[in-house]
Amino acid sequence: FSAFLTDSFGRQHNYLRISLTEKCNLRCQYCMPEEGVQLTPKSELLTAQEIISLARLFVKEGVEKIRLTGGEPLIRPDVVDIVGQLYKLEGLKTIAVTTNGINLARLLPRLKEAGLNAINISLDTLVPAKFEFIVRRKGFHKVMEGIHKATELGYRPVKVNCVVMRGFNEDELLGFVDFTKDLPVDVRFIEYMPFDGNRWNFKKMVSYKEMLDTIKQRWPELEKLPCEASSTAKSYKVPHFQGQISFITSMSEHFCGSCNRLRITADGNLKVCLFGNSEVSLRDHLRSGASEEELVQIIGAAVGRKKKQHAGMFNISQMKNRPMILIGG
Ligand code: GTP
Ligand code: 5AD
Ligand code: SF4
Repeated sequence: FSAFLTDSFGRQHNYLRISLTEKCNLRCQYCMPEEGVQLTPKSELLTAQEIISLARLFVKEGVEKIRLTGGEPLIRPDVVDIVGQLYKLEGLKTIAVTTNGINLARLLPRLKEAGLNAINISLDTLVPAKFEFIVRRKGFHKVMEGIHKATELGYRPVKVNCVVMRGFNEDELLGFVDFTKDLPVDVRFIEYMPFDGNRWNFKKMVSYKEMLDTIKQRWPELEKLPCEASSTAKSYKVPHFQGQISFITSMSEHFCGSCNRLRITADGNLKVCLFGNSEVSLRDHLRSGASEEELVQIIGAAVGRKKKQHAGMFNISQMKNRPMILIGG
């Protein structure tokens, strides 16, 4: 594996998350402030060609999985083309997308055809009126349609991301478990994380332990499933249900020790950790004519500076960072 993508703690970064846009057709409260965020001028965002050039470089160095994020990646007009070009990169095994699901049913046949092979969809409630409250827009039925379309087209499992917030949807845990009964989905309950402008506070966060206790009271037979070391999620299953549930415990039990992720923001910055604001502009180096070797050196130096872990939940909430919408999760 490439020394450039290995950090000083021996973590090999074979998973790259690329944000395709800073824009979104929803306004989720946990992701962005109501008034929106200051957008980068279009000329300073990566073009499709720049994205592919960078992706090629990372794949050459050992990246095997690329996840496209946003904002909302499926509002980028050239998204199908980008997937198609990524598909041609030899060595890349997985092309994934994390989407809010609004445009999914419509675009999925073309995305599948272009080579997309994994889908994560955000859905925080099964109640349409609550959906409109949290995302400040309409669209519940479109998202549901997207989830069903993904299962119909054979994606397994279709991951459904549910950010759990006290006073909003912690009463829907059992409803979401039931949702996995007849659908091959993996509902992932996510601990609410702090980002700039999302009004996080400790009391709104529901911990893994609390969620698991609630679910086990109803389903004592819940089975723990094995999972990959680098996974963000701890998975379980109610026996005989088609789908499964998972927990993403970023706050109460971080998984930094097995982190294999790097990120490129829509404006072309390499971000070696979801938290903190240590970034380097690959766009600027690319546009000033840096050679492949130089770029690899620059990437390697940034990876080499990656910290052991983001230091605990209170520290994260005080760290300077971008709003979530400008990172992509
Ligand atoms: P897979 O690639 O399917 O494993 O998905 P994922 O969980 O990595 O990505 P997704 O975009 O579906 O994000 C689900 C949740 O995991 C979001 O809340 C992300 O912010 C969070 N997440 C993704 N990567 C990281 C990470 O490196 N660290 C932490 N703490 N959380 C992460
Ligand atoms: N805490 C946890 N997860 C979040 N996401 C967005 N904001 C937050 C937050 N504050 C999730 C979304 C999306 C994924 C990319 O990140 O639900 O599925
Ligand atoms: Fe848009 Fe996703 Fe942020 Fe919601 S979480 S506002 S869908 S980018």
